[in-house]
This record gives sequence, C-alpha cells and structure tokens, in this order.
Amino acid sequence: MKKLITLNINGQDFDLAVSPRDLLVDVIRKKVGLTGTKKGCGQGDCGACTVLMDGHPVLSCITLAVASQGKKIQTIEGLSEGEKLHPIQESFVEQGAVQCGYCTPGMILSAKALLDRNPDPSEEEIKQGIAGNLCRCTGYKKIVKAISAAAEKLGGKEEERVR
Ligand code: FES
Ligand code: FES
Repeated sequence: MKKLITLNINGQDFDLAVSPRDLLVDVIRKKVGLTGTKKGCGQGDCGACTVLMDGHPVLSCITLAVASQGKKIQTIEGLSEGEKLHPIQESFVEQGAVQCGYCTPGMILSAKALLDRNPDPSEEEIKQGIAGNLCRCTGYKKIVKAISAAAEKLGGKEEERVR
C-alpha cells in the first residue's frame, strides 16, 4: 500500500507516493530523477549513496524514504549554483580527484559536512571525515588534497597543510 509523503530535496518539496519499504536512494534516483546520488553496495558499506540530511551525511541506501519526511535533504545536484560549481567540486576537478566518478558525489557531500563543521581540518581530520566513503580509483591522496584546497578556497584554512 502506497503512502503519500513530501520530501524536501535541495530546497524543493516533492509530493511522492512511496511504499513504506522504499529506500531513500531509490526514491531520489527513480521517482525524483536525481541520479547524481549513486547506489554502490546497497548495504551501508561504501558511502556512494551519501546525501546530507539537515546537514549531516546519511547513507540513503539504508534510510527509508518515509523516515526522511520533515528533513532538509541535499544531494549533489543541490551544491552547484546553475553552471557554477561549488568550490569543493571545483577543487576535486582541479586536483584530479575524480576518476570514474562513482564515489565522487558521496565523497563531496561528506567533505561539505566536514567543512561546514570544521572549516580548517587537518589532514587526519579530512581522512576521518571521508572514512565512510570508499574510492576504488584514486588512492585518496588527491581527494584529501582537494578537500584541503577547498577549505582554503572557502576561506577556512590559514595555511596549506596537505601538499
Ligand atoms: S550504496 Fe549506500 S553505502 Fe554503498
Ligand atoms: S573515482 Fe572511481 S571510485 Fe572514486
């Protein structure tokens, strides 16, 4: 039996008919049509499906859509302003931190949550901030560097610590 819910995604309300067991990742991708959120393992292990919920990273593959009502959900599509990339996205491109790109949306959203709560993270804090996001391509070095460069761009960093 379907249930009518309203999800607030990237500042916009979506009225949706979902089953009580529908997962947030599937609803975001298939019903709302925002395919930037990726589904990797589907069991809470890889972080590809990370979205922000009230500013906190959440694994949308183990989150029920019905439990997401009343929260502010942000996906990767909500980060850029039109054609203008968010500074974290820019840094990922500039530092070569994107290869196949499958982990990138989740990685960037985890980075955003980190920089929102800690604008000047150390290398170790960056590694902890993305500990739940797996990347099979980059070896993480460029990702950590990109997040450090983004912190600098966003004005939170006093000195460059990751070289
Ligand atoms: S797809 Fe959600 S954690 Fe892997
Ligand atoms: S860039 Fe391919 S998994 Fe991270």
